[in-house]
Amino acid sequence: MSFWQKLPAPFFVLAPLADVTDAPFRRVIAKYSQHQRQDGTTGSADVMWTEFVAADGLIRATPEGKKKLMADLIYSEAERPIVAQLFTSSEDHMEQAAALCLDLGFDGVDINMGCPDRTIEKQGCGSAMIKNPELAAKIIRAAKKGAKSDSGGIPVSVKTRLGYNKDQLEEWLPALLAERPAAITLHARTRKEMSKVPARWERVKRAVEIRDEILGEDKLQTRIIGNGDALSLADARDKAEATGADGVMLGRAIFGNPWLFHPEIDASNVPVSLRLKVMLEQTKLFEELLPFKNLAIMKKHYKAYIRDFPGAVELRNKLMEQNTVFDLEVAIDDYLKANN
Ligand SMILES: Cc1cc2nc3c(=O)[nH]c(=O)nc-3n(C[C@H](O)[C@H](O)[C@H](O)COP(=O)(O)O)c2cc1C
Repeated sequence: MSFWQKLPAPFFVLAPLADVTDAPFRRVIAKYSQHQRQDGTTGSADVMWTEFVAADGLIRATPEGKKKLMADLIYSEAERPIVAQLFTSSEDHMEQAAALCLDLGFDGVDINMGCPDRTIEKQGCGSAMIKNPELAAKIIRAAKKGAKSDSGGIPVSVKTRLGYNKDQLEEWLPALLAERPAAITLHARTRKEMSKVPARWERVKRAVEIRDEILGEDKLQTRIIGNGDALSLADARDKAEATGADGVMLGRAIFGNPWLFHPEIDASNVPVSLRLKVMLEQTKLFEELLPFKNLAIMKKHYKAYIRDFPGAVELRNKLMEQNTVFDLEVAIDDYLKANN
């Protein structure tokens, strides 16, 4: 039995968000969303995802390029269960990369079949997989083989959308279910819709029905996770209840709110001083864990952390002018001293 079968009902998971839910941010989320679960264990999100990682790069890149990609696979124990998300249209690369994730100690491998980015699609990956179900099936099998899913290894899941240009759930979901992934996360929009229309949660409900019809008594073998526009844990719980989804994935709601998965903390009540301290803690982790990445990636979080309080705009502008973590710390300390 894999961790997917042991999760609470419903369960709440952290979405993969490239250049957002990186190792430093996940560490901060694991710390500040940590709470005691109903079963007595402690944790934050019930499952976390890494950002998507190019399996082709992991297998083929130069040592320097590989080092950078491996940084996207850094995780800490507090983030478990943690799933590594991969993309490729090469069965061979998927098998090898999934084997690597098994070796690295991940709890699962997830395959990205929903990314609308043109550069990803050109490689036949992401949403392009929806147009090629035969290849999608082969990629899932290759991942399972590499991850040794059927012989004591780790489970393989898929994250996808309702369809490409139109809603193809009725054909696409059965095609995926035939491969028995341990979970299917359904971002309830088509590729064409990008994120421009509200997520169609009624289609998540339909996905649960299709899964139940096809798997019957074995329905726990493929968990259905709804995704799109969940604003908070309470909202996610309502969406799970309304659709029967086993779990809900939250993405953009995490911006500036590492307390998101803590059932008793409302981020709007977190004092500004603590928000700034946590932001600085994340910035220092960013420098420590991802020294070769541009600090601008970290600074994108500042807009979400520093808002809705007097002087927020001025502070943000000041911090945007700083180019080192040391200077950022000095500016934040100055602000805290002047405002306490
Ligand atoms: C900045 C950003 C980066 C994303 N990166 C990924 C990714 O690496 N892999 C993936 O499967 N989805 C990615 N997504 C999609 C999200 O995981 C999620 O499906 C989408 O944001 C809808 O959920 P939400 O409304 O809760 O944010 C990304 C979305 C955003 C906004």
